[in-house]
Amino acid sequence: MSEDNVLLKVVKLRKWFEMRKGLFGEVMYLKAVDGVTFDLNEGEAISLVGESGSGKTTLGKTILRLREPTDGKIIFKGKDITHLPNDKLFWYRREASLIQQDPFGALPAHFTISKIIEEPLIIHKMGDKEERRERVYKALEEVRLTPVEDFASKYPHMLSGGQMQRVAIARALVLRPSLVIADEPVSMLDASVRIEILTLLRELQDRLKISFIYITHDLATTRYFSEWIFIMYAGHIVERGITKEILRNPLHPYTKALLSAIPDPDPENRKKFRDVPPGEPPSLINPPPGCRFAPRCPFAMDKCKEEPPEIEVSPKHFVKCWLYA
Ligand SMILES: Nc1ncnc2c1ncn2[C@@H]1O[C@H](COP(=O)(O)OP(=O)(O)OP(=O)(O)O)[C@@H](O)[C@H]1O
Ligand code: SF4
Ligand SMILES: [Mg+2]
Repeated sequence: MSEDNVLLKVVKLRKWFEMRKGLFGEVMYLKAVDGVTFDLNEGEAISLVGESGSGKTTLGKTILRLREPTDGKIIFKGKDITHLPNDKLFWYRREASLIQQDPFGALPAHFTISKIIEEPLIIHKMGDKEERRERVYKALEEVRLTPVEDFASKYPHMLSGGQMQRVAIARALVLRPSLVIADEPVSMLDASVRIEILTLLRELQDRLKISFIYITHDLATTRYFSEWIFIMYAGHIVERGITKEILRNPLHPYTKALLSAIPDPDPENRKKFRDVPPGEPPSLINPPPGCRFAPRCPFAMDKCKEEPPEIEVSPKHFVKCWLYA
């Protein structure tokens, strides 16, 4: 990614949760995000893929400063926001927003749809009543909840899951943020509406030139969604690069395992993916040094007892594995 239009810079970011055994017991750390580095350009999208517990949500929430970073840096629009106190983060709250997995849980049930979308405008003191109403109606149109007058006066329980996720998208976009993190935005929806919602998100992201981080378990849905794919395993980004390149030439054994689970009619492609035996992800509580994938990796060697560096194997294609060091 070129330096000139970088929106977000994340440098060796860590989020460790402190845990204590008993009242006076030993302090341990659950290392949910452990040294993540990347840049995100203006208007570009990243899919962040990994299995349950790999740290995707924690990474997203730490970037949004909904979790306090343990170490590292978050630079947004050239400004270091890593430890800015809450009262100085007001502008960042307008610039960066979150779309969560469960729209019903994330949004106030007793508000009308219009009020739900208007609330961020009120909090950020944007426009008078009439201007806000216009913006709410425009947002409803953008997410295709029409006729807008009908939807504006409804309550969440009157809407389907897909329609509610459209409301969540409208609310996230009404402040015209430059960064949106969508955390598994379609995983709780019926399969039949998933593609529709993803297509809508991609179209809005493109049109409004928003930078996007799309968090998912499901590598298959990222194929047409983002310029970049990042693969996360046990708190580390183990591989990242341009979507086409990662799909054409996956290098990390974990990425190969993930890809082997997606049906691919091309036998040449399938040959490239060696199956990695299923297994439990490692505990993130005081994990031993070395590659965290080693217990499941068919290629593990002595060297893997040390943590592998992240290597740029070809332009913009990074892999954290000793096989490529
Ligand atoms: N507030 C917290 N306190 C302690 N541990 C936490 C907290 N939030 C997350 N964790 C732990 O951090 C690790 C990463 O969790 P996280 O929710 O970020 O993973 P994830 O990749 O989003 O998983 P999923 O796909 O299931 O949503 C897990 O071991 C989880 O138990
Ligand atoms: S560093 Fe070693 S254990 Fe880890 S993925 Fe690479 S080969 Fe496997
Ligand atoms: Mg999650």
